[in-house]
Amino acid sequence: MNVLVIGNGGREHAVIQALKKSPKVEKIYAMKGNAGIAQIAECVDVNYCDPKAVADWVDAHPDVAFTVVTPDDPLALGVVDELESRGHKAFGPNKAAAQIEASKAFSKNLMKKYGIPTAAYEIFDDYEAAKAYVETCDIPVVLKADGLALGKGVLICMTREEALDGIKEMMLDKKFGSAGNKVVVEEFLEGPEVSVLSFTDGKTVVPMITSCDHKRAKDNDEGLNTGGMGTFSPAPFYGEKTAKEVMEKIMLPTVKAMQAEGRPFKGVLYFGLMKTKKGMKVIEYNSRFGDPETQVVLPMLKTDLMEIFEAVVDERLDEVKIEWSDGACVCVVLASGGYPEAYEKGKEITIGDLEKDIVVVHAGTAIKDGKLVTAGGRVMGVCAKGDTIEDARKKAYAAAEKISFEGMYYRKDIGIKYRDVERE
Ligand code: AMP
Ligand code: GLY
Repeated sequence: MNVLVIGNGGREHAVIQALKKSPKVEKIYAMKGNAGIAQIAECVDVNYCDPKAVADWVDAHPDVAFTVVTPDDPLALGVVDELESRGHKAFGPNKAAAQIEASKAFSKNLMKKYGIPTAAYEIFDDYEAAKAYVETCDIPVVLKADGLALGKGVLICMTREEALDGIKEMMLDKKFGSAGNKVVVEEFLEGPEVSVLSFTDGKTVVPMITSCDHKRAKDNDEGLNTGGMGTFSPAPFYGEKTAKEVMEKIMLPTVKAMQAEGRPFKGVLYFGLMKTKKGMKVIEYNSRFGDPETQVVLPMLKTDLMEIFEAVVDERLDEVKIEWSDGACVCVVLASGGYPEAYEKGKEITIGDLEKDIVVVHAGTAIKDGKLVTAGGRVMGVCAKGDTIEDARKKAYAAAEKISFEGMYYRKDIGIKYRDVERE
């Protein structure tokens, strides 16, 4: 079967690498892809945030039997709805279900209504009311812009002054555009964080192997928030006991809540969780694979990914046995100097001789005048599997040293975090 994958980042390259292994998949198209994706798929240049344009392209390519929609924007804009309305098979939640990520106010209210553990919160769409609340609330406090803001719409405020400035930036200065028209003011929680992606067909939910992201730009979780500077899998503090708690108190209740709301969720539902002293709590939901979580999760998947995608769309996920490898996987993101703030593009990338089992996942790359060049903030992820996280980590860093471009930087401590947290 021929498949279209929508997106152009590291996550999409990792999805396409996994689909390539499926005996069911013949040709893959990527909309729009990047230089790494172009080596294994045919890239097509269509604005994937325009549902009509995407569906028109699929209409014009009857050889494409299945579309995978990975990024949050096209999901929130209804690309899956448009494809389905024209009789095409598409993997990913429809517009109504994608609200679980697209609106933090929606997801917080859903959790409150269905008793799903999360940080206590208040929602404001009026600046003066938000300001009055923040003048007296407990500190630290967390501010979240309601809408999609490229993972940057969250401010952790350690002082009241920061919180008051934050409210002003979001609601009056519109730092995150219209995403800040509504703001969630949330209780600050503490504990190790884990990303648990899951496959769900709206009824059955199957968690993937766990992973941990590193969102800050600098070592020791310092510097600005980014889209993610590296990941490792699995999380050592997430054993069977926690998995059971999360399934009973968070995953099944969420899937059932979405059903009860008339918004059954089909696709990848991502649970961003924190292990607090009072149990596991939801920090955020995403309506899609995580980036760069996917880069360490999918290499551990032993089951055919295409078979899982089809089972989700056909609502028979309960029939598929999903298996994971033992061991660990680490991904180190190589970023452009300056990212997540201003950075230059078009820098030539050189890659030395890498060990055979290293997987380079491209994110912001392009080909210019026949040369591989940088085309984004997060340029590529270097991924390695190993018997342990430490083993995988050493391999990934040895490979990262063989790659270079002007201004390149990466965190040196991916995989070290949570080493001292009690194992389970
Ligand atoms: P989000 O965009 O919702 O994933 O938030 C970005 C990051 O902010 C999370 O990964 C957490 O590290 C942090 N964060 C979000 N909400 C809270 C909270 N209630 N308490 C503490 N940290 C939080
Ligand atoms: N790595 C976090 C995300 O994909 O949102």
